Amino acid sequence: MHAFSYQHGELYCENVALTNIAQEVGTPVYVYSKETILGHFLRLKEALAPLNAEVAFAVKSCSNIAILNLMAQHGAGFDIVSGGELFRVSKAGGDTAKCTYAGVGKTPAEIRYALEQGIYCFNVESIAELEAINAIAGAMGVKAPVAVRVNPNVEAGTHKYITTGKSENKFGVDFELILDIYRMAAKDLPHLHLKGLQMHIGSQLTQVTPFLEAVKKVAPLAAQLKEEFGIEFFSIGGGVGIVYKESLESGESKWWNDDCEQLTIDTYAKAVVPVLEPLGLHIIVEPGRLIVGNAGTLLTTCLYEKIGKAKTFKIIDAGMNDLIRPALYEGHHQIIPVKEFPADSKVQADIVGPICESGDFLAQNREVADVKAGDLLAVLSAGAYGFSMSSNYNSRPMSAEVLVDGDTWSLIRKRQTWNDLIEGESIPQ
Ligand code: LLP
Repeated sequence: MHAFSYQHGELYCENVALTNIAQEVGTPVYVYSKETILGHFLRLKEALAPLNAEVAFAVKSCSNIAILNLMAQHGAGFDIVSGGELFRVSKAGGDTAKCTYAGVGKTPAEIRYALEQGIYCFNVESIAELEAINAIAGAMGVKAPVAVRVNPNVEAGTHKYITTGKSENKFGVDFELILDIYRMAAKDLPHLHLKGLQMHIGSQLTQVTPFLEAVKKVAPLAAQLKEEFGIEFFSIGGGVGIVYKESLESGESKWWNDDCEQLTIDTYAKAVVPVLEPLGLHIIVEPGRLIVGNAGTLLTTCLYEKIGKAKTFKIIDAGMNDLIRPALYEGHHQIIPVKEFPADSKVQADIVGPICESGDFLAQNREVADVKAGDLLAVLSAGAYGFSMSSNYNSRPMSAEVLVDGDTWSLIRKRQTWNDLIEGESIPQ
């Protein structure tokens, strides 16, 4: 369930009217619901209970330390992809011993930092990286825990920019080469501890079939690696998709997935658990979007309306620098007014931001409420890869972030100022 709903004609997050947040903090602002975040996390934990699986939250999806702290308090592990993300986890009070570190381009400094922090495992993406980790661990006099990321060459059926498990993608190592690589590492790389096996086939998957195909293909390999090298875990990555369309219609908020013909948490768990359980391995999942996607909304104000020859534009104060998903992946986000409009008052319009790019739109040719200057809009399902992908493009300060908990809310990131924009810059003397 996501906790955004109309009450008395006004959009609320849990028991807080979004208008109040906008009045105090200004717009654009990201608003997250604690109840929704924990709801998804706990439902997933429960569905995977037969595996006693570790849920490692994908930090890249929403990396504010307040959100990471919330996950840590409820026992989550973390899927990280940079030294910066590891730093965030440690500052948020997360357990660095529960971090698995993926990514094709880890630097020597990042590898050293991760070893110092005692992370659970490196998810290694190439032979060259295995050798680099081995050398650094040797120099530090430690053994580095590693898992190789297997690329199972499975079609994920998602946008091409977020497909990661095909041979032509830069991620992981070809399935056919894995066994030889573990044998080589066991023989030649003495400073490595072969601890697990990992995969991640893509993001925003809306069918269970690719997951099932991938785990069925890779499970026998995991079993063999357990037998030969005593590996202890198998991480199946993240990727469970969410509902972006019609997640809030006619005043109702509903369980994000139960009413929709999409991949539900239960469908996912029922498919993968029977394949994974017999392995007797520690299983890790790495969800990001599933946990926070529907839990966040980007609140924005309509600045102007412009009626052109071909189109009507509603110009808002949030742009592609605040939410890049529509521009980058043609991502669809439902956009609704904060003050409820009659259902028959819709117009067809483009909702566009202030950035000097034609790609700066949050919706195109969309039937939207006929909002006017000053009206507030909520861009739904923006909790994952929303703020975390935002930038200062066009020298726009990054937005504020707020976490709602019941009838209270906290500012978890203050809006940047113009001074923040030039922080660290200097003019040569
Ligand atoms: N594990 C690994 C190794 C990953 O690379 C990712 C996401 C995840 C887990 C979490 O995937 P999720 O459960 O959130 O689907 N910016 C894009 C999505 C990029 C995903 C990158 N990797 C978007 O906005 O759709």
